[in-house]
Amino acid sequence: MEIEKELGNRDLIVSSTNKKGIICYVNSTFTKISEYTKDDLYGKPHNIVRHPDMPKAIFKYVWENLLNKKPVVAYVKNYVRGKKKYYWVKAVMYPKVVDNEITMITSYRTKATSFEISQISEIYRELVAYEKSHNVSESLNYFKEYLKNKTLTYNRMINRLNDNQQVLNTALLNFNISEFKSDHMIFRSRIESLVEKGYENIDVVKPTCCAFGKRLETIENESFAKDNKFLEIKRLHDKVHTELQLYVDADESIRVNYMNEVYKDIDTLFEIMETLKNDHKYDFEV
Ligand SMILES: Cc1cc2nc3c(=O)[nH]c(=O)nc-3n(C[C@H](O)[C@H](O)[C@H](O)COP(=O)(O)O)c2cc1C
Repeated sequence: MEIEKELGNRDLIVSSTNKKGIICYVNSTFTKISEYTKDDLYGKPHNIVRHPDMPKAIFKYVWENLLNKKPVVAYVKNYVRGKKKYYWVKAVMYPKVVDNEITMITSYRTKATSFEISQISEIYRELVAYEKSHNVSESLNYFKEYLKNKTLTYNRMINRLNDNQQVLNTALLNFNISEFKSDHMIFRSRIESLVEKGYENIDVVKPTCCAFGKRLETIENESFAKDNKFLEIKRLHDKVHTELQLYVDADESIRVNYMNEVYKDIDTLFEIMETLKNDHKYDFEV
């Protein structure tokens, strides 16, 4: 029974090869995850980490693109040293071309999500089974035919998998939009009533003192959190808290001005959240 090794959201596994696939560079995340040392890897063919669940057709497709000087993306399952553990990655591979010659190929790998893994491993299983009685060219044709039947190209299949992940993430975010909004309104009115009761030293600057702030913190490492709109949400949320503090500390005569700002910013913030779902693009972090 093989064990899956899970990558962290921030892990970026990098390796480079020459145009024959011989490893000439690996970063420290590669050695950490693969459990090989640099000495084990340098000068070795990259299939040293190959897992038998990977269809030959995928590597054929990858190499066809790379040798045509085109970057290519693939989901890859790799073995950890000892072949008892494995890990899944989303790999973006770039050939470096100097004077029309490929001098090096580099692969940048990030964590594949469980959704992506479940979808792609189904396709890979079918291809590996097909490859038991067909050669690799037949398998690649079979794969292309399979994509055509679904009116997909290879790149669209990859993008679709990413999009689906985004839809899932956004759904998660949207599911709670109204909950977040009411949470914040309750928080705001609690502050108001504390102020009215004459409490002093009320601290509302720290955004994580509300449930929404805590939630923002838990999702800030997700892929969609790199989105500019998401960053704007965080900025506005911090601003709301600062304004609440100004409201608390201000003279009674001008307090209302700060609260008006808070109302306005909460509305803007949730408008942005509503539109966030419409324009996600996954950017590979390279
Ligand atoms: C830059 C680069 C990175 C690669 N990374 C991997 C990898 O992580 N895992 C893997 O199995 N193959 C990787 N390959 C593909 C291997 O070179 C090889 O084609 C593949 O393992 C299939 O090996 P086989 O043809 O001996 O079965 C990479 C190739 C390049 C050019």
